[in-house]
Amino acid sequence: MPTRPSHHHAGPLAAPLPDEPATLLGNLTPTQFMRRYWQKKPLLIRQAIPDLTAPVSRDELFELADDEDVESRLITHFRKSWAMEHGPFAPDELPSVKKRDWTLLVQGVNLHDDRARALLNRFRFLPDARVDDLMISYATDGGGVGAHFDSYDVFLLQVHGKRRWRIGAQRDLTLKEGLPLKVLQHFEADEEWLLEPGDMLYLPPHIAHEGVAEGECMTCSIGFRAPSESELSSQFLYHLAERMDDGSEPGSKGAARYRDPAQPPVSHPAQLPPMLVERVGSILANVQWNEKDVSSFLGTYLSEPKSNVVFAPPRRPLDESGFIERAKQIGVKLDRKTVLLYDKRFYFMNGEQILMPTKARKWLTELADKRYLEAKRFVTLSDETSMTALLHEWYCAGWIQVDASA
Ligand code: SIN
Ligand code: CO
Repeated sequence: MPTRPSHHHAGPLAAPLPDEPATLLGNLTPTQFMRRYWQKKPLLIRQAIPDLTAPVSRDELFELADDEDVESRLITHFRKSWAMEHGPFAPDELPSVKKRDWTLLVQGVNLHDDRARALLNRFRFLPDARVDDLMISYATDGGGVGAHFDSYDVFLLQVHGKRRWRIGAQRDLTLKEGLPLKVLQHFEADEEWLLEPGDMLYLPPHIAHEGVAEGECMTCSIGFRAPSESELSSQFLYHLAERMDDGSEPGSKGAARYRDPAQPPVSHPAQLPPMLVERVGSILANVQWNEKDVSSFLGTYLSEPKSNVVFAPPRRPLDESGFIERAKQIGVKLDRKTVLLYDKRFYFMNGEQILMPTKARKWLTELADKRYLEAKRFVTLSDETSMTALLHEWYCAGWIQVDASA
């Protein structure tokens, strides 16, 4: 009998391996899930996470919604009329939990809570570069955000109480006008399920859906971003422009500039000279980029922290040798807010491209993929001074932590 690969290195909160059937995916392997469902069709998974408890309690969620660094929205549907407000919300600004038909959405809970981050980590059979965030919604009986569609892939994981989901693959995605939120004009469901804690619904982009709380409930949405082509192009050109050498170092003659030694005098001074248009056209046609520019753009762009992210540096940081001593005892882990990506050439951390000696690559790759480095790694790693200096710098910035829970 062939032996199954051991799971010992992974632990219960790790992402499933590509070719192992996963409870999270209804006993499909990640490979099967990606081939049959990802970006293609919805999948309901009963008891994707058995015995699941909500990563944060209702009161903890309300506390997050009161924090100005946290993005939150309150959506009410009182007397059949939709209303939306943006947070932060002081406790007395939320409707009573006894009142029906309202919902509170808290975005990016993974940035603020390690249990939410751990839950998001279970979805790391998908590339980090595609992750948007883990949102948690709380709703009272009848609460929801109306029938709508999203442009993102989403896993809707029921974490507390019950929610009835109705979904449809309709073509007509016209929205109701004059509402503060996106609600479909005509919604026709082809399927309907009541989800209980641990149940999960995967939806690809553009599937119409409506979730209505049956009693008080909480739902986690694990969302995957897909930037639009126009956003990618404009951001890339911006990145490229930032890197263009303007030749203005001291002593240089300056950057090449438009010249027109052959310009004749004009009797229509306001007219754009055709020669100018043509010349600039050929200057622009000479703008070049290669795959290296594209990956350097993507790495910095996709690892850039969201605008509301603030890192918390340690209050009394250890010095470098103290830090390494501690890391040798308990290891280090990435802060829950940190994004660390890499490709065959570069590493990118929190929007910065990192210069690394080749020797350090193996450690950094492990840190990026696991989000931690075990204590025992530091026995060898502590001799790599450029790596330890960098790790210490990141620790001082609050990007990584010395932490036993790694
Ligand atoms: C919710 O959790 O109420 C809304 C999530 C969604 O429909 O995308
Ligand atoms: Co949605």
